[in-house]
Amino acid sequence: MAAGQLNVGLIGLGTVGAQVADRMLSWGPQLSRRAGVELCLKRVLVRDLAKRRAVDVPTEILTTDPDVLLSDPEIEVLVEVAGGDEPMRTYLERAIQAGKHVITANKVVMAKHGPELLDQAAERNVDLYFEAAVGGGIPLISTFRTDLQANRIERVSAVINGTTNYVLGRMATAGLPLAEAVAEAQVAGYAEADPTDDVGGFDATYKLAILASIAYEIKVRPDEIYREGIEGVEPIDFRYARELGYAIKLIAHSGRHPGRVEARVHPAMVPLDHPLARVEGAENAVFVEGDLVGQVLLVGQGAGGRPTASAVVGDLIDLARSIRRGVQSRPSFSFDDRVGVVPIGEVVTRAYYRLKVNDEPGVIAAIGQVFAEERVSISSFIQKDAWSHDQTVELVVTTHPALDASLQRARERMATLKPVRAVSSFLRVF
Ligand SMILES: NC(=O)c1ccc[n+]([C@@H]2O[C@H](COP(=O)([O-])OP(=O)(O)OC[C@H]3O[C@@H](n4cnc5c(N)ncnc54)[C@H](OP(=O)(O)O)[C@@H]3O)[C@@H](O)[C@H]2O)c1
Repeated sequence: MAAGQLNVGLIGLGTVGAQVADRMLSWGPQLSRRAGVELCLKRVLVRDLAKRRAVDVPTEILTTDPDVLLSDPEIEVLVEVAGGDEPMRTYLERAIQAGKHVITANKVVMAKHGPELLDQAAERNVDLYFEAAVGGGIPLISTFRTDLQANRIERVSAVINGTTNYVLGRMATAGLPLAEAVAEAQVAGYAEADPTDDVGGFDATYKLAILASIAYEIKVRPDEIYREGIEGVEPIDFRYARELGYAIKLIAHSGRHPGRVEARVHPAMVPLDHPLARVEGAENAVFVEGDLVGQVLLVGQGAGGRPTASAVVGDLIDLARSIRRGVQSRPSFSFDDRVGVVPIGEVVTRAYYRLKVNDEPGVIAAIGQVFAEERVSISSFIQKDAWSHDQTVELVVTTHPALDASLQRARERMATLKPVRAVSSFLRVF
C-alpha cells in the first residue's frame, strides 16, 4: 500500500453505491484534503458484471467474488451498500475479523445484529460506522455518538419512513384512498414495487431498533418493537383528525421508563403544533429529548442515492482521519443487557376511535359503559353525519391517557356491542 493512501472495498453499485463511487472518483482531491489521506476505490463487488451503471467505474476493479475484497490485506476499509440480512452480515463479520474497518448503510443488518457487530469491532479494535443506516443524509448516529453524549436521552420520536409520509400526505391533501396514494408514490419513485416493508411499518421498525439501541445503549431488537402499519387509515380519518387539531403520521416512538424503555411504531394522530406534524412529503424528522440539551429536531432527506452517499462518504472521511491519527476518534457503544422493552399493553397512551353505529337510543350509554368498565376516561365524543340509507351514524371518540391494553380491550368490546356495526378506525393519539 502506498503511503498516505487508504484502500477501500465497496460492496454494491446500485442507487447508493453509484453515488458513493461517483463522489470518490470525481471529488478525489477534495476528499483527500479533508481525510488527510488519498481515498482509493480498489475493488467493487456486484452481482452482475454486465449491468449498465449510473457511474463510470473502471471495469477491472469490478468483481463478483467477495473473497477478492474480504481476503485482500491491502483493503483496510469495507463499505457495504448492498442491503439485506445475508450474505451481508457474514461479509461484515468476516471483514471485522480480518481487521478491516467497516462502513454500512444496511439497516436490516444493523437492526438485527448491530450490537454484536459493534462488540466484535471493539474486540478487534476496528471501527464500525453506520450513519447511513438510519435517516439517509440526516446526521443522526453521529449526533447521538458525539454531540448528545453528555445527555441521558429521555425520548426519541420520529417520522422515519419517507414513503409512508408521502402516502399519508397525499391521503390528507387529495383525499386519496391508501392504494391510490401508494400507486402515486410508486410512479413518483418514492415507493418500491412491493411496498410492504414501508406500508407495514417494518422499515420504520428497523430504524427505530437502531436509534433506540444507540439512544439508550441497550439492545433493542426489531421483533421487540410493537409494530402497526398504515393499512387501516382511511381518507375520512384525516378530515376528522384535522377537525380535532391533528395530523396523521406513521410515528416511531421510544421513551425511557424506570429500568425499561418503550418502543413502538404505528400510525398516530399528532397535534398540529408538534414539529413532527409538519414533516412533509418524503422528508424524515427525528425529535430527541435529552436531560441536558432539552429538545432537538433533526430534519432532512431520509433516503435517496445522493443524501445517503453523503452519510457514507462522511463516515469514510471521519474514519480515514482517525486511522491516519492512529486513534478511534469516536467513543464506542456499550449495551446494557439488563434493560428490556415495555410490552405495548403496559404503555400509557391516548386513542381515537371511529365507530359506525345504529342510529337508535342507548348506543352512547352502551359505549360509555365499556369505557367506564375499562377505566378509560373520554376526552371528546362527537356524532358525525347520519347515513340515512342504512340508519347508521358515525361516532368519533378520543380518550384521555390510559393503559394501551385497556384501550385495545375497549375497542374489542365495542365491536361486539349489538348496535355497533363496526369500529372502523383505531388510532393512538401522540
Ligand atoms: N436507496 C436509498 O435511498 C437508501 C437510503 C438509506 C439506506 N439505504 C441502504 O443502502 C443499501 C443499498 O441500497 P440501494 O438502494 O443502493 O440498493 P440497490 O439499488 O438495490 O443496489 C444494491 C447493490 O448491491 C449489489 N448487491 C446486492 N446483493 C449483492 C450480493 N449478494 N453480492 C454482491 N453484490 C450485491 C447489487 O449488485 P447488482 O447491481 O450487480 O445487482 C447492487 O449494485 C441498503 O442496505 C439500503 O437499505 C438505501
